[in-house]
Amino acid sequence: MKSYQLAISTGFGLEAVTKREIGALLGAEHCPARQGLIRLSGTDREIALCNLWLRTAERVYIVAGEEEGIDTFDKLFTFVHEIDWGLYLPQNANIHVLGKSVDSTLFGVSACQSIAKKAIVVKMMETYHTREVTEDGAQYDITVDLYKDKCTILIDTSGKGLHRRGYRTLVGEAAIKETMAAALILLSVWNQSKPLIDPFCGSGTIPIEAALIGRNIAPGLNRSFAFEHWTGFDVDMDELRGQARAAINDAPLTISGFDIDPEAIKLCRYHAKAAGVEDCIHFQCMDMREVSSRYSYGVIVTNPPYGERLLDDKQVDRLMRDFGKVCAALNEWSLYLISSYPFLERAIGKQADKTRKLYNGKLQCRLYQFMGAKPPKKE
Ligand SMILES: C[S@@+](CC[C@H](N)C(=O)[O-])C[C@H]1O[C@@H](n2cnc3c(N)ncnc32)[C@H](O)[C@@H]1O
Repeated sequence: MKSYQLAISTGFGLEAVTKREIGALLGAEHCPARQGLIRLSGTDREIALCNLWLRTAERVYIVAGEEEGIDTFDKLFTFVHEIDWGLYLPQNANIHVLGKSVDSTLFGVSACQSIAKKAIVVKMMETYHTREVTEDGAQYDITVDLYKDKCTILIDTSGKGLHRRGYRTLVGEAAIKETMAAALILLSVWNQSKPLIDPFCGSGTIPIEAALIGRNIAPGLNRSFAFEHWTGFDVDMDELRGQARAAINDAPLTISGFDIDPEAIKLCRYHAKAAGVEDCIHFQCMDMREVSSRYSYGVIVTNPPYGERLLDDKQVDRLMRDFGKVCAALNEWSLYLISSYPFLERAIGKQADKTRKLYNGKLQCRLYQFMGAKPPKKE
């Protein structure tokens, strides 16, 4: 079976958690990562599995070529033309070229896209001995990625970004990406035997992603991928989806989401139903100041309002001070909180055990991790 170089994109700061997922899924080790791109080799089957199962990845790409020192349009044309496009594209491929340039001599992205497209089309005409390419077949999105004059040509196998699971059809205010929500859960100490609360749940993304993890529901089960429209892709997706359905468990879960906004709670219920997890999450319209739990040793994973997006700094400070009191009452619980508010620890009233720099969209944030007490050892 044909093996490719693959590149899996993920959020900045999430490379380690995505690598851990890849390791658990494929047993792949030694996957180097740079700037949100993780490298590994794999066949059509691995491409399909990564698209179907990775919760924190953004896209799965095939690396068609890579070269340093691409600092003129002539070099770009020659490099792209030298790639054996017949290995990847059928004669009638509908070719969309996208571009990205960071710290590179060739910074005009649209000019790079046009040169690359021309080089691909010329090579396709030579390969298939034809005077024109009809482009009336399946779509192939090809990215010309220039970073410090190193050019990487990536073919997108995913289509829509992998955060688009298919359940979140109505967008809540300041909703977190599904991939980021899954990463927060996977970075936490939560597992299906522990209770989980999101006291600022908005449209429900964090509780829903936790339920998908707890029930072992593949995040890509209810969507399709670009590669499924490609000819010659050697994977039986019905079989992989069947195996994914068979892997779903019915573990009892204790997951709750609260929000002060009744419209947000309506969205949560709608999305949870669409995701097939409405039976395992308790959503309730409530001010987080009222939140308490009869359980011990649970995990709070949450994304409260940020200054820049929903409230001013004074309001955020007051809200976080009150939230600090709620957390103090849940003192055996662990807390994972993503925020861009720089004085978060002061407002909450304690220092985080660990922080991690992350981006929520373009907003630089920190994930604050406060560890709760450990449960007493059983006799
Ligand atoms: C950044 S949004 C959360 C987005 C959510 N993670 C999602 O994916 O949709 C913050 C949420 O906190 C809620 N909120 C603000 N003040 C609150 C309070 N005092 N108690 C509970 N929820 C509150 C807002 O209504 C908003 O939905």
